[in-house]
Amino acid sequence: MIKISPSILSCDFLTLDDTMPLLKEAGVDMLHLDVMDGNFVPNMSFGVPVIESIRKHTDIPLDVHLMIDKPHRYIKDFAPVSDWLGFHYEAGSPVAETLKEIRELGCKPYLTIKPKTTAEEIFEFLPLCDMVLVMSVEPGFGGQKFMPESLPKVTALKEEIARRGLNVEIEIDGGINKETAPLAAQAGATVLVAGSYVFNGDDMCERVKYIKSL
Ligand code: DX5
Ligand code: ZN
Repeated sequence: MIKISPSILSCDFLTLDDTMPLLKEAGVDMLHLDVMDGNFVPNMSFGVPVIESIRKHTDIPLDVHLMIDKPHRYIKDFAPVSDWLGFHYEAGSPVAETLKEIRELGCKPYLTIKPKTTAEEIFEFLPLCDMVLVMSVEPGFGGQKFMPESLPKVTALKEEIARRGLNVEIEIDGGINKETAPLAAQAGATVLVAGSYVFNGDDMCERVKYIKSL
């Protein structure tokens, strides 16, 4: 069954406390939290204090997507408030060391790639990852159009993970909606992030259930 990690970037933060029980009831697998520094990506969002508050109000596993430069500088800060903790291959950190540090601090490490990075570039790090995240938009903003070029990358990762006999989730993030979600699932994605699709309608729970049914 496909897992869903709704991105709260498109959510009304002041009503999040009411929204989270509904998401839990609908069966979401994790909550996707987009951390942006205005440097690695041209947008800013939130950091540790906001995630800490969210953690106090829900037991849904937190999937923290760091879109920040040199993320290894901040792993010790984010690990205590994360379940899954991911950073960008392109962000200028020592990749293997950072993945290992995340695991040592008790989180599930993941590595993510921007649209212009090939899947093959991260094959060597797969044994250190519990998940890989293929961006299907340029990171920075919710509500962008899905890039179909991301799909062969998902499939290449799926084949390499199988070839190596590993157990690594494949997440996809950006532009997931009713039409693109089945394509992502067919390509081999196991965790779908969805922001605007889940939150910008009046049938949030139905949308979550639809994605999980794929
Ligand atoms: C973009 C973020 C995404 C974003 C997804 O940089 O990483 O998680 O919130 O939003 P949608 O689903 O609207 O594309
Ligand atoms: Zn994200």
